[in-house]
Amino acid sequence: HNHIDHATPEKVLAAVAARDVHTKIPEYEDYGAYVSGGGYRVLHALHENGDPEATAETVFESGLRGLGGAGFPSGKKWGFVFAETGTKYLAVNGDEGEPGTFKDRVHLEAEPHLFLEGMLIAAWSIGAEKAFIYLRDEYPAACEILKREIAKLVEQKIVQEGYIDLRRGAGAYICGEESAMIESIEGKRGLPRHRPPFVAQVGVFNRPTLVHNVETLAWVARILREGPEVFSGVEHNGRVGLRNYSVSGRVAKPGVYLLPAGSTVTDIIYAAGGMKQGHIFHAYQPGGPSSGLLPAHLNDVPLDFDTLQPHGTFIGSAAVVILSDQDRPRDAALNMLRFFEDESCGQCTPCRVGCEKAVKLMQADHWDQPLLEELCQTMVDASICGLGQAAPNPIRLVMKHFPNEI
Ligand code: NAI
Ligand code: SF4
Repeated sequence: HNHIDHATPEKVLAAVAARDVHTKIPEYEDYGAYVSGGGYRVLHALHENGDPEATAETVFESGLRGLGGAGFPSGKKWGFVFAETGTKYLAVNGDEGEPGTFKDRVHLEAEPHLFLEGMLIAAWSIGAEKAFIYLRDEYPAACEILKREIAKLVEQKIVQEGYIDLRRGAGAYICGEESAMIESIEGKRGLPRHRPPFVAQVGVFNRPTLVHNVETLAWVARILREGPEVFSGVEHNGRVGLRNYSVSGRVAKPGVYLLPAGSTVTDIIYAAGGMKQGHIFHAYQPGGPSSGLLPAHLNDVPLDFDTLQPHGTFIGSAAVVILSDQDRPRDAALNMLRFFEDESCGQCTPCRVGCEKAVKLMQADHWDQPLLEELCQTMVDASICGLGQAAPNPIRLVMKHFPNEI
């Protein structure tokens, strides 16, 4: 194996430097532009005479739920941390790794200060001693933008040097699982922890920690500036609120689309310019591989939290991938399981061995459905974290909706 070009620390550093040099920084709203549009007024007012609990109440009233994918009521999370005493931290999950999800990158690369102000409001509200941002390293432009703009916040004396601690991930999907992220922030290997205790009680360095996704915090800033109605005032198909859908696959214009939370896949395809020429809508991934795949005829279901439960799935991070008559859902599901097999942290057997077995079984021309179902149930019942618990979703949904393919 003489031909293998072994990585040395020097080579790794050179590669990182080359990457940094070649990173294209998109046009974005910098500190000056943000302030002239009214930015940071809410934060300053809160610093002067704000009431943390009333602030959390406004967020709660808006109906904002965690936009990393789980949809936990945001104001309620703050309440858990209020109840704790002593040193508290805020940790931002910017490790957007769910395949097909790219809304946080778009947020960070377009309006970094909307997110930063939301983050500082949340940190002020819980009295956080420090705010950690855990950013996936595959987002070099967002990283550079954050470094530049955080330096301006220090210059402007909005935060002290070191208050915002920007940490770079190292390419592991599992570090987006909040407790694995916390382990990684602490300098350890990113292995998910058992819950309870929840991170609101035992988080970074065993202290109570408020963990939020990037987009959730950007909404906090808007809700406090424009009032809860900016979010709660939008209604569509009986659902309330707004969602940024990351749309890709066989559509004419892939991208991030801000739409009412009650949008159906038909609304989303329409927003994305319709199907790509020559493609007929066949199936879709509603919210990342963890949410599996649904058939095209389920085209009138609002893609919101809770609405997909009757169909055996959930909206998650709202990463909608459109498949056409030229794709086979069984191939897409196999691809998803290969991803989970690669990204499993290996800590628990049902997930580590389960993903590997599932990939082998799914490669057969005819799927052994009873055996696959037994394997899926074991993974759901016995895996430590969401990765192993959700990995069976693509298998189960293909068995349910695309039986002719398997
Ligand atoms: P979860 O429902 O277990 O927890 C959600 C949040 O609520 C966490 O912050 C948790 O600490 C908090 N929480 C829940 N119950 C609590 C309680 N009783 N007391 C205090 N806090 C409580 O969901 P999880 O595992 O954190 O996230 C799963 C979601 O993440 C899935 O929907 C999946 O789609 C999404 N995901 C998103 C990715 C992305 O790149 N955005 C990547 C992978 C998964
Ligand atoms: Fe690790 Fe998978 Fe177990 Fe999660 S379910 S702890 S990713 S082995």
